[in-house]
Amino acid sequence: MVQIRSARELAQMRKSGEMVAKVLFELTKAAKPGVSLIELNQIAEDLTLSMGAKPAFKGYLGYAHSLCTSVNDQVVHGIPSHRKLVEGDVIGLDFGLVYDGFFGDSAVTLGIGKVSDKAKKLMQVTKDSLYAAIDAARGGNTLKDIARAIEDTIRPHKYGIVKEFVGHGIGTKLHEDPQVANFEAGASNLKLRPGMTIAIEPMINEGTHRVKVLGDKWTVATEDGSLSAHYEHTIAITEGEPELLTSWINILKEAETNLDSETLKRGAYGQRGSNPS
Ligand code: MF3
Ligand code: CO
Repeated sequence: MVQIRSARELAQMRKSGEMVAKVLFELTKAAKPGVSLIELNQIAEDLTLSMGAKPAFKGYLGYAHSLCTSVNDQVVHGIPSHRKLVEGDVIGLDFGLVYDGFFGDSAVTLGIGKVSDKAKKLMQVTKDSLYAAIDAARGGNTLKDIARAIEDTIRPHKYGIVKEFVGHGIGTKLHEDPQVANFEAGASNLKLRPGMTIAIEPMINEGTHRVKVLGDKWTVATEDGSLSAHYEHTIAITEGEPELLTSWINILKEAETNLDSETLKRGAYGQRGSNPS
């Protein structure tokens, strides 16, 4: 059953979403060469608890951490380890929390220090595909329109769109109906209606779309070892423009006054537009 949220529930979702954005923003600032994945997990968990929220992933289907950290050829669900980030890494940070019964879920992919041009391009195109999908997520359109927007963005680059994992409805549970596929053939004709809240999350590989699950039973990696990128936002369908519930905009505004330009530039990761190099 696809839920329609009331104005009151949407206000709750907005709160949770903003907390998710805050965590991802702080992680983006912290993700530097020499920092370990488990340290990033700890930052996410501490900040979440300090805001009075709870990490959404911890304990979910037995997952033991608060954050997913997927490095280079890892697609999603990478487990935070003591591995330290090094210059040139491409890291996906996927984070969700629950506050007052409502969930938010979002992901960004970051380049650590200087990264290759092909990595920058993969990140940019993947982010573009997310925003194209969000633009298509309007009342009266269908889930196929969302998927088509992603496919149309990716096709010219001949990247692989991961099919085994999809976006999802979200609200009082992390995963609700409907499934939000990133390719048209996998998407239903379900009509989007104002008040629906969904997480859209394209996972894009530089090479084959095929993926494998590693021996830890969680980490999903590209079959051919090529790079992968992943961006995700929780959004609400409205009568007009879709509403970004995990937008960074308020956090960036607040940060503007006391952040150096380098950090602000890195803040652009969660936003529409270019990935800073
Ligand atoms: N963010 C992921 C999603 O959108 C959830 C990670 S799986 C978990 O479905 F087990 F780590 F929670
Ligand atoms: Co998700």
